[in-house]
Amino acid sequence: MRAVIRAVDFAVPCRRMANEEFSATLDTSDEWIRSHTGIRFRHIAEPSVATSDLAFESCKKVLERANVAPEEVDLLLVATVTGDYIGFPSVSCIVQGKLGASRAGAMDLVAGCTGFIYGLETARGFVLSGFAKNVLVTGADVLSRIVNWQDRNTAVLFGDGAGSALVSGEEGDGERGIIRSFLRADGTGANLLERSVGGSRFPYGNGSDPLGSYLKMDGRQVYNFAVKVVSEGIVEMLETSNLTVDDCAWIVPHQANARIIEAAAKRSKIPMQKFFMNMDEYANTSAASIPIALSEMSTRGLLKSGDLILTFGFGAGLTYGGNLIRW
Ligand code: ACO
Repeated sequence: MRAVIRAVDFAVPCRRMANEEFSATLDTSDEWIRSHTGIRFRHIAEPSVATSDLAFESCKKVLERANVAPEEVDLLLVATVTGDYIGFPSVSCIVQGKLGASRAGAMDLVAGCTGFIYGLETARGFVLSGFAKNVLVTGADVLSRIVNWQDRNTAVLFGDGAGSALVSGEEGDGERGIIRSFLRADGTGANLLERSVGGSRFPYGNGSDPLGSYLKMDGRQVYNFAVKVVSEGIVEMLETSNLTVDDCAWIVPHQANARIIEAAAKRSKIPMQKFFMNMDEYANTSAASIPIALSEMSTRGLLKSGDLILTFGFGAGLTYGGNLIRW
């Protein structure tokens, strides 16, 4: 039995916001944002749209693409840090209800921007154990709701979106499927990326920090962490699998910042052409960034049957990790 990605798809809001629009309210410029991040646009959800709306749209599209009925789904996993509600009900349950996936279990997974990578490995485990035949894995975030739009250090970096993969059990001799994953965390860096107020540690009220419900990030430290784990993690994944970078058709990294990828590529001596990047269009969509990238690559015909793909992400937690996938 292998756990195979049968289809991928994604959904982003229609509103496409260019870097120039920030200059009206913030001391920033298109030139600064582009040269420091590689980002030119992001898609921003209308006020009435929540994370489950984008997740639902991308799940619906992926099921249609795979020609699988909602009733055939055994489990829905949604990786997110921007649930419609704090804690509960989960995004996955809202999506399950709207889809009519009447036989499916549903749960959310919190692993920051590495959430989809954790989700794929979780799906693989459920499939290989025999528990599930079809698992719908989604990364979805509406970060525009939790960034401080007055803070130029963070506001320019993020966008909204959702991306989904249908992971199904497949028997037979083929090689297709999620081969293995690498899941790690470094909780000693938990405070480098946090949203401190609104949880059980610092509930709202009683003089809580009015800015505490916004995403707060130590950009420089996260940058250093990301370059280190991406460069070392990719090499470790390849070495432990007895592979070299030449065996990979593509490396699909978390789309946070082009400079992180360029620095990691240089450190690991991997040619930049191996890395797929689309943050110029979507910015950092957190858990959605890797499935959106895979969907775009699939639509553009960049993923050929039999290709070896390596995903790699990092994010709040801190978390990091990757998946090796035979497409
Ligand atoms: N426009 C203009 N100037 C800016 C902006 C902006 N949008 N943002 C920051 N600056 C300024 C700073 O205020 C600082 O000015 P100062 O020297 O007067 O204080 C100056 O630019 C340099 O700041 P640095 O933080 O050193 O800028 P750097 O070149 O490191 O780039 C960045 C900042 C892009 C945030 C970088 O540190 C980074 O990419 N960090 C990692 C971010 C990341 O990947 N986060 C997400 C990972 S996890 C997840 O996805 C949720």
